Amino acid sequence: MSTSSPVEQTLVLIKPDAVRRGLVGEIIGRFERKGLRLDATVLRTMDGELADQHYAEHVDKAFYPPLREFMTGGTLVALVVSGDQAIDVVRALVGATDGRKAAAGTIRGDLALSNRENLVHASDSPDSAKREIELWFPAGV
Ligand code: TYD
Ligand code: MG
Repeated sequence: MSTSSPVEQTLVLIKPDAVRRGLVGEIIGRFERKGLRLDATVLRTMDGELADQHYAEHVDKAFYPPLREFMTGGTLVALVVSGDQAIDVVRALVGATDGRKAAAGTIRGDLALSNRENLVHASDSPDSAKREIELWFPAGV
């Protein structure tokens, strides 16, 4: 019997609140210290069209208009992060959506106090990782 250790890639966004607060190094450092790799990175802004595509599952929700305003309102950092089970590992490091409820020790739990301005996006499944990596890095990684 063999045990598999699938190396995965996942899409991470370091959101505009984290860039404004000077937390980019802190957040990337947590991924690096865990042993994950950075395969690609770009500093850019998100326009409304990209926001609607990135958050396609949320565009009809009541929280979406202010989320769109927030996400398009400043520079962010997009990253492709890889490693063994990177999708779930990164989600665990990031913590629960609401920074007020996220566990201490997680990025959101330690550094965020909001349900919207929660510092980081991370893909939540293999399908969304593939879709989001293609959306943010259309030339390939
Ligand atoms: P969601 O995909 O549910 O969370 P996560 O980022 O943990 O995968 O929601 C996407 C983003 O939408 C979330 O990071 C912050 C924002 N959001 C709100 O502003 N209000 C809300 O009530 C929820 C659920 C999310
Ligand atoms: Mg999500």
